[in-house]
Amino acid sequence: MTGAQRTTTLAAGIAALKNLPRVLAGEGYVDAYAIYGPLNLRVDLWAADLDLLPASLRVLVSVFLLGRRVARDELALVFSDQEIDALISLSILLPEGEKLHTGNMVLLPLLGFLVFAQRPGVNPIAYFGEDSAALALHLMPSRGDVCLDLCTGPGIQALVCSGRASRVIAVDVNPLAAAHAELNVVMNGLEDRVEIRTGDLFSAVPGLEFDFISANPPLLPFPPDLPYPFVGHGGADGLDITRRILKGLPAALKPGGVCQIIGTCTGDWDAPGCEAELRELAERNGLRIRMTIPSALPLVRGAHMFDGLAWTCAAAAHLDVEPVRDALEAHLRTLGATHLYLFFLAILRDDRKPGLELTRHYEDHAGFWYISR
Ligand SMILES: C[S@@+](CC[C@H](N)C(=O)[O-])C[C@H]1O[C@@H](n2cnc3c(N)ncnc32)[C@H](O)[C@@H]1O
Repeated sequence: MTGAQRTTTLAAGIAALKNLPRVLAGEGYVDAYAIYGPLNLRVDLWAADLDLLPASLRVLVSVFLLGRRVARDELALVFSDQEIDALISLSILLPEGEKLHTGNMVLLPLLGFLVFAQRPGVNPIAYFGEDSAALALHLMPSRGDVCLDLCTGPGIQALVCSGRASRVIAVDVNPLAAAHAELNVVMNGLEDRVEIRTGDLFSAVPGLEFDFISANPPLLPFPPDLPYPFVGHGGADGLDITRRILKGLPAALKPGGVCQIIGTCTGDWDAPGCEAELRELAERNGLRIRMTIPSALPLVRGAHMFDGLAWTCAAAAHLDVEPVRDALEAHLRTLGATHLYLFFLAILRDDRKPGLELTRHYEDHAGFWYISR
């Protein structure tokens, strides 16, 4: 292929990518996705109800939500030949024998945006989960803000911020995650407002200051020497990356600026183990931190959360689960931890009122990221 042909193919690919939201919205894809709840991955329900859908919508759900292989003539119910070729040229559709599929990607309609993320699995790179959706729903930049989204993954929080921001920079240390984010920015037509950078937290934005910063960092506590999936391993108590973000705020957040972070940490039933440390960090760095805690989940052998952590590590690293359980139990014992605290941080850079305030919903209620009495 000549240089000129490559340029033409790329332009056709980008045009087809930008047209996807219109095609999918018109076919009823958003309704087929969101009818079971707008912010969850309900793969079993999408599959179970597939036959209820009109033929062209069934093809779209099969290929973009369920990851099935479909024939080119089935896709031709929705896309022109040129569009199919263009999506193949961008590797959004991958040929396999007579069929086409999306590899490992799902296409999620979220809060008015269309987002390519990775299919739920034990070790994703372009992660999307309930925490991604929860943070996206909480974000509130002000009109015209210059925003930074750290640990952006496929970029859902950056897209949400772009609705009110004048400019958004989104950073991920993994170039493959950043490439997903870039694809999502182009597909949603936001290249003029959202810039994706590959790098380690604030080192990707040296010398820049922001009105608003968001982050969904790797947030789960796990023994540092065990191979928990990178997108989730938050260090011994879940706070390794969160700590680094908080310490970077005095330089990166403008006075009066706001940062919103979702996270977890370990503790006993009385309190999260990081309470004193966060208070001290807030006071020393001129930050007012409001920590809203919806849930404190038991984190002992046999508890759902404990087993989930051990199982995920074992599955992702091909280890036997029992030794992983033993190592996790020993690790939590050294921390004196019996519970996992889920939290949202709302942080204001304000030298006059630094400190930490906690809202402990978990004492009277049960839930996860949301309270379900
Ligand atoms: C839990 S995922 C969140 C992804 C996305 N923001 C979301 O909510 O779905 C954490 C992301 O942080 C990225 N990450 C981990 N360490 C990082 C670092 N030091 N600097 C920038 N990104 C990092 C991972 O590659 C991963 O994409």
